[in-house]
Amino acid sequence: TGCFTYDNGFTATASCRSAITYIDGDAGVLLYRGYPIEQLAEKSSFLEVAYLLMNGELPTKDEFATFEHEVTHHTMMHEAFRTFLYGFRHDAHPMAMLTGMLGSLASFYHNKLDIEDPEQRRLAAIRLIAKVPTIAAACYRYSIGWPIRYPRNNLEYTTRFLHMLKEVPSEPLELSPVAAKAMDLLFILHADHEQNASTSTVRLVGSTGANPYVSVAAGVAALWGPAHGGANEAVLKMLAEIGRPENVGAAIAKAKDKESGFRLMGFGHRVYKNFDPRAKIIRTMTHKVLGELGINDPLLDVAMKLEEAALQDDYFIQRKLYPNVDFYSGIIYKALGIPVEMFTVMFAIARTAGWVSHWLEQQNDPENKIGRPRQIYTGSPSRDYVDFDKR
Ligand code: CMC
Repeated sequence: TGCFTYDNGFTATASCRSAITYIDGDAGVLLYRGYPIEQLAEKSSFLEVAYLLMNGELPTKDEFATFEHEVTHHTMMHEAFRTFLYGFRHDAHPMAMLTGMLGSLASFYHNKLDIEDPEQRRLAAIRLIAKVPTIAAACYRYSIGWPIRYPRNNLEYTTRFLHMLKEVPSEPLELSPVAAKAMDLLFILHADHEQNASTSTVRLVGSTGANPYVSVAAGVAALWGPAHGGANEAVLKMLAEIGRPENVGAAIAKAKDKESGFRLMGFGHRVYKNFDPRAKIIRTMTHKVLGELGINDPLLDVAMKLEEAALQDDYFIQRKLYPNVDFYSGIIYKALGIPVEMFTVMFAIARTAGWVSHWLEQQNDPENKIGRPRQIYTGSPSRDYVDFDKR
């Protein structure tokens, strides 16, 4: 029917041209603007990666200083945000709040929203990168009944977020260098991943000419699902349910049984049919963090046993199902004292750098068209309306 192809889940459709991120799923390669993720993880910082994604090149010292200054000076929230935040139920999920709060940014910056102007577009992108951690921390603190904290702008991006999230005035937050590095590393690894579901959502909304705040809010909504960013929360819940390494066999059997409806969370990827390069980096970091913080988390034993058993199992081998980025990230977040319901929010903070970069790229693209897929119609053929009294 029609002159289009049925492509369920867009497994074979390129929806745009993009110069931001390259993935070779068979070889397990991930490049941001041409730079291997392994090198960025080792040598860069999240904010530098955000600059790279947005601008295409690594910044010079001066360019970085200007960018950091700009991001730092857009971290505050309008006071009226509090009223909006306090309208949520006290036990709302932080992802629900984040979606609403980001959408509402469009109402705060409405007058400044001339998306035809490249400078206004750039500023909107910076505002989003700057404010997402402030909003995320505020959502969490509200959900546990703590007063919101202002951003401490003498700190750098990642540590500033951790202070907003966890600090109480009487107990200054002591952050070990390894904890700060681990958090920054997780942000780098989650910063972009080409046309995944949430980024495609941002681009689809952006393709209509809608503003960047609501485009990114739509991305957050797409990220929340357990098949996407929600997997990191789901992994930790699954590991806790499995409980002990002895129970791993039963979990694997259940994941292979299609009737069970259960999948191994943190396994498999639409594009990687080899080890997810991010998972390899996180795996090493997990051991380092737990070692240096002196944490003995039994869930790590469960995770390692599960990984070992799945990698040797024919079902997983044949389907090329390897641990993905979210398999280990939750264990690090837990070790750093990040609450489980914040895991997907952490992903959203990092991915904001990617979302705004894609939005900017799309707005600059002369080929940009409204995204408008077709369908295979499976409904009734044309038929005549039947009056109420004849039905
Ligand atoms: N456990 C058990 N079986 C699985 C799993 C899994 N985690 N993942 C895929 N399969 C099976 C699936 O049942 C299917 O089997 P069959 O060919 O017999 O029907 C086969 O592997 C192919 O799966 P698919 O669902 O067609 O693959 P997809 O590319 O549509 O899905 C995925 C990719 C990531 C949604 C899926 O692997 C999954 O649900 N994984 C668990 C959730 C998860 O960890 N998500 C995070 C992804 S990475 C970070 C991110 O994107 O945010």
